[in-house]
Amino acid sequence: MKYGIIIGSHRAQSQSAKIGSYAQKVLTAIDASSQFYTVDLSKKPLPLWDEGVWRGDDAWKVVWGPMAAQLKSCDAFVVMAPEYSGMVPAALKNFFLLAGRDELGHKPGLIVGVSSGLGGSYPVVELRMSSYKNSRLNWIPDHMVVRNAEHVLNGDVSQSADDTFMRARFEYCLRLLGQYGKALALVRESGVVDFKNHPNGL
Ligand SMILES: Cc1cc2nc3c(=O)[nH]c(=O)nc-3n(C[C@H](O)[C@H](O)[C@H](O)COP(=O)(O)O)c2cc1C
Repeated sequence: MKYGIIIGSHRAQSQSAKIGSYAQKVLTAIDASSQFYTVDLSKKPLPLWDEGVWRGDDAWKVVWGPMAAQLKSCDAFVVMAPEYSGMVPAALKNFFLLAGRDELGHKPGLIVGVSSGLGGSYPVVELRMSSYKNSRLNWIPDHMVVRNAEHVLNGDVSQSADDTFMRARFEYCLRLLGQYGKALALVRESGVVDFKNHPNGL
Protein backbone atom coordinates (compact mmCIF):
# COMPACT_ATOMS: atom_id res chain seq x y z
CA MET A 1 0.00 0.00 0.00
CA LYS A 2 1.37 3.40 -0.96
CA TYR A 3 0.21 6.33 1.14
CA GLY A 4 0.19 9.98 0.12
CA ILE A 5 0.91 12.15 3.16
CA ILE A 6 -0.33 15.69 2.48
CA ILE A 7 0.84 18.46 4.82
CA GLY A 8 -1.52 21.40 4.42
CA SER A 9 0.35 23.93 6.58
CA HIS A 10 1.97 27.14 5.32
CA ARG A 11 4.54 27.04 8.15
CA ALA A 12 8.03 25.62 7.64
CA GLN A 13 8.14 24.11 11.15
CA SER A 14 4.56 22.99 11.45
CA GLN A 15 2.68 20.72 13.79
CA SER A 16 1.02 19.28 10.68
CA ALA A 17 4.41 18.07 9.41
CA LYS A 18 5.18 16.55 12.81
CA ILE A 19 1.86 14.73 12.77
CA GLY A 20 2.38 13.58 9.18
CA SER A 21 5.71 12.02 10.21
CA TYR A 22 4.00 10.38 13.15
CA ALA A 23 1.36 8.89 10.83
CA GLN A 24 4.11 7.52 8.59
CA LYS A 25 5.80 5.89 11.59
CA VAL A 26 2.57 4.23 12.72
CA LEU A 27 1.73 3.01 9.21
CA THR A 28 5.24 1.53 8.91
CA ALA A 29 4.80 -0.23 12.26
CA ILE A 30 1.47 -1.66 11.04
CA ASP A 31 2.98 -2.84 7.75
CA ALA A 32 6.71 -2.53 7.10
CA SER A 33 6.13 -2.81 3.34
CA SER A 34 4.11 0.44 3.26
CA GLN A 35 5.40 3.08 0.87
CA PHE A 36 5.02 6.83 1.16
CA TYR A 37 4.96 10.00 -0.87
CA THR A 38 4.88 13.20 1.15
CA VAL A 39 3.75 16.60 -0.10
CA ASP A 40 4.61 19.38 2.33
CA LEU A 41 2.96 22.47 0.86
CA SER A 42 5.13 24.82 2.92
CA LYS A 43 8.42 23.28 1.73
CA LYS A 44 7.32 22.89 -1.88
CA PRO A 45 4.69 25.61 -2.40
CA LEU A 46 2.57 25.16 -5.48
CA PRO A 47 1.69 28.21 -7.61
CA LEU A 48 -1.93 29.27 -7.45
CA TRP A 49 -4.04 27.45 -9.99
CA ASP A 50 -4.52 29.29 -13.30
CA GLU A 51 -5.94 28.37 -16.70
CA GLY A 52 -2.55 27.15 -17.86
CA VAL A 53 -3.41 23.94 -16.00
CA TRP A 54 -6.33 23.25 -18.37
CA ARG A 55 -4.28 24.34 -21.41
CA GLY A 56 -1.50 21.95 -20.39
CA ASP A 57 1.13 24.70 -20.38
CA ASP A 58 4.73 23.50 -20.17
CA ALA A 59 5.33 25.48 -16.97
CA TRP A 60 2.59 23.49 -15.24
CA LYS A 61 3.85 20.21 -16.66
CA VAL A 62 7.17 20.94 -14.95
CA VAL A 63 5.66 22.04 -11.64
CA TRP A 64 2.76 19.62 -11.37
CA GLY A 65 3.64 16.68 -13.63
CA PRO A 66 6.06 14.84 -11.29
CA MET A 67 3.82 15.40 -8.26
CA ALA A 68 0.74 14.23 -10.17
CA ALA A 69 2.55 11.03 -11.21
CA GLN A 70 3.48 10.30 -7.60
CA LEU A 71 -0.07 10.97 -6.38
CA LYS A 72 -1.49 8.69 -9.09
CA SER A 73 0.63 5.86 -7.74
CA CYS A 74 -0.79 6.24 -4.20
CA ASP A 75 -3.59 4.01 -2.89
CA ALA A 76 -4.70 6.13 0.08
CA PHE A 77 -4.13 9.58 1.56
CA VAL A 78 -3.62 11.10 4.99
CA VAL A 79 -4.36 14.82 4.83
CA MET A 80 -3.14 17.10 7.61
CA ALA A 81 -5.45 20.13 7.64
CA PRO A 82 -4.49 22.81 10.19
CA GLU A 83 -7.16 25.27 11.19
CA TYR A 84 -6.32 28.79 9.99
CA SER A 85 -8.90 31.39 11.00
CA GLY A 86 -11.49 28.64 11.16
CA MET A 87 -10.64 27.51 7.64
CA VAL A 88 -8.53 25.09 5.62
CA PRO A 89 -5.28 26.91 4.61
CA ALA A 90 -5.25 28.37 1.10
CA ALA A 91 -2.34 26.12 0.04
CA LEU A 92 -4.44 23.05 0.73
CA LYS A 93 -7.48 24.38 -1.13
CA ASN A 94 -5.17 25.18 -4.05
CA PHE A 95 -3.86 21.61 -3.90
CA PHE A 96 -7.43 20.36 -4.35
CA LEU A 97 -7.82 22.54 -7.45
CA LEU A 98 -4.77 20.84 -8.96
CA ALA A 99 -5.22 17.26 -7.75
CA GLY A 100 -8.26 15.77 -9.40
CA ARG A 101 -9.90 12.50 -10.33
CA ASP A 102 -6.78 11.09 -12.03
CA GLU A 103 -4.73 11.47 -8.88
CA LEU A 104 -7.30 11.02 -6.11
CA GLY A 105 -10.41 9.48 -7.70
CA HIS A 106 -12.09 6.72 -5.66
CA LYS A 107 -9.20 6.48 -3.23
CA PRO A 108 -9.71 6.76 0.53
CA GLY A 109 -8.57 9.77 2.53
CA LEU A 110 -8.20 10.32 6.27
CA ILE A 111 -8.72 13.92 7.40
CA VAL A 112 -6.55 15.07 10.29
CA GLY A 113 -7.70 18.45 11.64
CA VAL A 114 -4.90 20.19 13.58
CA SER A 115 -5.07 22.95 16.17
CA SER A 116 -2.67 24.42 18.71
CA GLY A 117 -5.72 25.11 20.87
CA LEU A 118 -9.17 23.59 21.05
CA GLY A 119 -10.10 24.09 17.39
CA GLY A 120 -9.47 21.70 14.52
CA SER A 121 -13.05 20.76 13.64
CA TYR A 122 -13.67 23.41 10.98
CA PRO A 123 -11.12 21.96 8.51
CA VAL A 124 -12.79 18.57 8.89
CA VAL A 125 -16.21 20.02 8.12
CA GLU A 126 -14.87 22.12 5.25
CA LEU A 127 -13.09 19.19 3.59
CA ARG A 128 -16.10 16.94 4.02
CA MET A 129 -18.28 19.58 2.34
CA SER A 130 -15.89 20.50 -0.47
CA SER A 131 -12.70 19.05 -2.04
CA TYR A 132 -14.18 15.69 -3.04
CA LYS A 133 -16.79 16.73 -5.65
CA ASN A 134 -14.68 16.56 -8.79
CA SER A 135 -11.70 14.68 -7.38
CA ARG A 136 -13.91 11.86 -6.02
CA LEU A 137 -11.53 11.52 -3.11
CA ASN A 138 -13.37 9.28 -0.68
CA TRP A 139 -13.07 10.65 2.86
CA ILE A 140 -13.45 7.77 5.28
CA PRO A 141 -16.15 8.24 7.96
CA ASP A 142 -13.67 8.41 10.83
CA HIS A 143 -11.33 11.36 11.14
CA MET A 144 -8.84 12.84 13.58
CA VAL A 145 -8.91 16.18 15.38
CA VAL A 146 -5.53 16.82 17.00
CA ARG A 147 -6.07 19.55 19.62
CA ASN A 148 -3.27 21.11 21.69
CA ALA A 149 -1.04 19.79 18.93
CA GLU A 150 2.27 20.89 20.50
CA HIS A 151 1.60 18.66 23.50
CA VAL A 152 0.70 15.37 21.84
CA LEU A 153 2.28 12.86 19.43
CA ASN A 154 5.83 13.92 20.37
CA GLY A 155 8.37 11.09 20.39
CA ASP A 156 7.66 7.43 21.01
CA VAL A 157 6.23 7.64 24.52
CA SER A 158 2.90 9.14 25.52
CA GLN A 159 3.14 12.17 27.81
CA SER A 160 -0.44 12.36 29.07
CA ALA A 161 -3.86 10.74 29.05
CA ASP A 162 -4.87 12.93 26.10
CA ASP A 163 -1.74 11.84 24.25
CA THR A 164 -2.51 8.17 24.94
CA PHE A 165 -6.05 8.60 23.63
CA MET A 166 -4.79 10.43 20.54
CA ARG A 167 -2.22 7.73 19.75
CA ALA A 168 -4.77 4.92 20.09
CA ARG A 169 -7.33 6.72 17.96
CA PHE A 170 -4.78 7.63 15.29
CA GLU A 171 -3.60 4.02 14.99
CA TYR A 172 -7.21 2.88 14.74
CA CYS A 173 -7.99 5.42 11.99
CA LEU A 174 -4.82 4.50 10.08
CA ARG A 175 -5.63 0.79 10.28
CA LEU A 176 -9.10 1.58 8.92
CA LEU A 177 -7.58 3.68 6.13
CA GLY A 178 -5.42 0.73 5.06
CA GLN A 179 -8.48 -1.52 4.81
CA TYR A 180 -10.38 1.12 2.80
CA GLY A 181 -7.29 1.31 0.61
CA LYS A 182 -7.61 -2.38 -0.22
CA ALA A 183 -11.39 -2.23 -0.60
CA LEU A 184 -11.51 0.82 -2.89
CA ALA A 185 -8.87 -0.66 -5.20
CA LEU A 186 -11.64 -3.11 -6.14
CA VAL A 187 -13.94 -0.22 -7.04
CA ARG A 188 -11.28 1.37 -9.26
CA GLU A 189 -10.59 -1.96 -10.93
CA SER A 190 -14.28 -2.88 -11.35
CA GLY A 191 -14.70 -1.24 -14.75
CA VAL A 192 -17.68 0.76 -13.46
CA VAL A 193 -15.80 4.03 -12.93
CA ASP A 194 -16.45 6.18 -16.01
CA PHE A 195 -14.65 9.52 -15.92
CA LYS A 196 -15.18 9.98 -19.67
CA ASN A 197 -18.95 10.31 -19.45
CA HIS A 198 -19.01 11.53 -15.85
CA PRO A 199 -15.92 13.71 -15.49
CA ASN A 200 -17.27 15.82 -12.62
CA GLY A 201 -19.43 15.23 -9.59
CA LEU A 202 -22.63 17.12 -8.84
C1 LIG B 1 -2.84 32.23 10.07
C2 LIG B 1 -3.18 31.31 11.21
C3 LIG B 1 -4.48 31.26 11.66
C4 LIG B 1 -4.82 30.39 12.72
N1 LIG B 1 -6.13 30.29 13.10
C5 LIG B 1 -6.49 29.33 13.99
C6 LIG B 1 -7.87 29.07 14.26
O1 LIG B 1 -8.77 29.68 13.74
N2 LIG B 1 -8.16 28.09 15.13
C7 LIG B 1 -7.20 27.33 15.73
O2 LIG B 1 -7.53 26.43 16.50
N3 LIG B 1 -5.88 27.56 15.50
C8 LIG B 1 -5.51 28.52 14.63
N4 LIG B 1 -4.18 28.74 14.34
C9 LIG B 1 -3.15 28.01 15.06
C10 LIG B 1 -2.90 26.62 14.48
O3 LIG B 1 -3.85 25.77 15.05
C11 LIG B 1 -1.49 26.17 14.82
O4 LIG B 1 -0.56 26.87 14.03
C12 LIG B 1 -1.30 24.67 14.73
O5 LIG B 1 0.02 24.36 15.12
C13 LIG B 1 -1.61 24.05 13.36
O6 LIG B 1 -0.93 24.67 12.32
P1 LIG B 1 0.52 24.23 11.76
O7 LIG B 1 0.34 22.86 11.19
O8 LIG B 1 0.79 25.26 10.74
O9 LIG B 1 1.47 24.23 12.90
C14 LIG B 1 -3.83 29.59 13.32
C15 LIG B 1 -2.50 29.68 12.86
C16 LIG B 1 -2.17 30.50 11.81
C17 LIG B 1 -0.75 30.50 11.30
